[in-house]
Amino acid sequence: MSKILKIAVIPGDGIGPEVIDEGIKVLKKMAEGSDFCFEFTHFPWGCEYYAKNGKMMADDGIEQLKAFDAIYLGAVGYPGVPDHISLWDLLLKIRKEFDQYVNIRPITLLQGAPCPLQEAKRDNINMLFIRENSEGEYAGAGDWLFKGKPEEVVLQTGVFSRKGTERIIRYAFETARRLNKSLTSISKGNALNYSMVFWDQVFEEVSLDYPDVQTHSYLVDAASMFMIMQPERFEVVVTSNLFGDILTDLGAALAGGLGLAAGANINPERTYPSMFEPIHGSAPDIAGKGLANPLAAMWSASQMLDFFGYEQRGRMVLDAIERLLTEKETLTPDMGGTASTSEVGDRVVQLLADMLNQASIPDNR
Ligand SMILES: NC(=O)c1ccc[n+]([C@@H]2O[C@H](COP(=O)([O-])OP(=O)(O)OC[C@H]3O[C@@H](n4cnc5c(N)ncnc54)[C@H](O)[C@@H]3O)[C@@H](O)[C@H]2O)c1
Repeated sequence: MSKILKIAVIPGDGIGPEVIDEGIKVLKKMAEGSDFCFEFTHFPWGCEYYAKNGKMMADDGIEQLKAFDAIYLGAVGYPGVPDHISLWDLLLKIRKEFDQYVNIRPITLLQGAPCPLQEAKRDNINMLFIRENSEGEYAGAGDWLFKGKPEEVVLQTGVFSRKGTERIIRYAFETARRLNKSLTSISKGNALNYSMVFWDQVFEEVSLDYPDVQTHSYLVDAASMFMIMQPERFEVVVTSNLFGDILTDLGAALAGGLGLAAGANINPERTYPSMFEPIHGSAPDIAGKGLANPLAAMWSASQMLDFFGYEQRGRMVLDAIERLLTEKETLTPDMGGTASTSEVGDRVVQLLADMLNQASIPDNR
């Protein structure tokens, strides 16, 4: 009997449904000949749903999603619906309600992927960013006083709890230890004299439990320079919500652009479903034209396989993407090709079929 992995699919808006369709093709392929199968349930939530119903998701949406093993999300946001509504009422709501406090963003330059650094060696761009995903600068805490008056004041408060800070740093140390890699903390203790001094202190404290893990600590400004000048400095990286958001887009640029950048929102205790998504948006400018690059959605599918313990199959998806990038025959226009979204999907599935035929995967992993 196959193990059934129940996946809630939220394709969302714009190119979301186009890229998710291709990711699902890949997931179905990767379940072949294994001890598991996927069961996909689609939810129509997003901006179109908002236009009809005045809300981004069903009232009991979170309850409905609880029954799933994971969520696969395309992108949300579309002209006509304010971005802060589409973001807060769907994406951030899921991240918060399901305590997905770890955001994992791999920044790995795959063979054949374009890199703006001409001198960069492939092996030198291989980082794993672990971004705090539940509080920090994106806690939504603050106030808007005397709105519209000359004395108007706006406060946006960063929230760094001991629990929230310690658990993300500990997760990063565990990851670095498991991968036998160094861990770099990125903060800004010189200017943010409460939150980031606290962050640095907790990093120091937790590091005492991991004497085997080599550590580094950088200010965020220096870190952004080093990511360009000496990217090899970074292996596993832990940072706050805001810094992680910005630096991983910089990282995405280093590792092939938005068309290749994936992210996983993880609830490590597995009390709630985790969520896998490409990090790009709904790209209204190219939506519905078959131009969207589906590789980021496939990379997030690979992260999903890793999460379920099928790491060899997850790696195989990345190998297939690498082959596609190296043969350079079936690429979407953003990567200099002329192929459509579904042609790229079909080619990756074909490459995977070849690889699965040749591979022997122990324990169906
Ligand atoms: N996670 C999310 O759901 C998410 C993330 C970012 C933005 N958004 C939303 O998406 C909408 C558009 O935002 P934006 O334009 O700032 O960012 P975007 O990522 O949608 O697009 C930025 C540029 O990159 C291109 N692009 C993005 N993904 C691509 C892909 N897979 N293949 C080829 N080209 C691609 C687009 O055509 C556009 O030129 C907004 O409503 C925004 O709020 C959602």
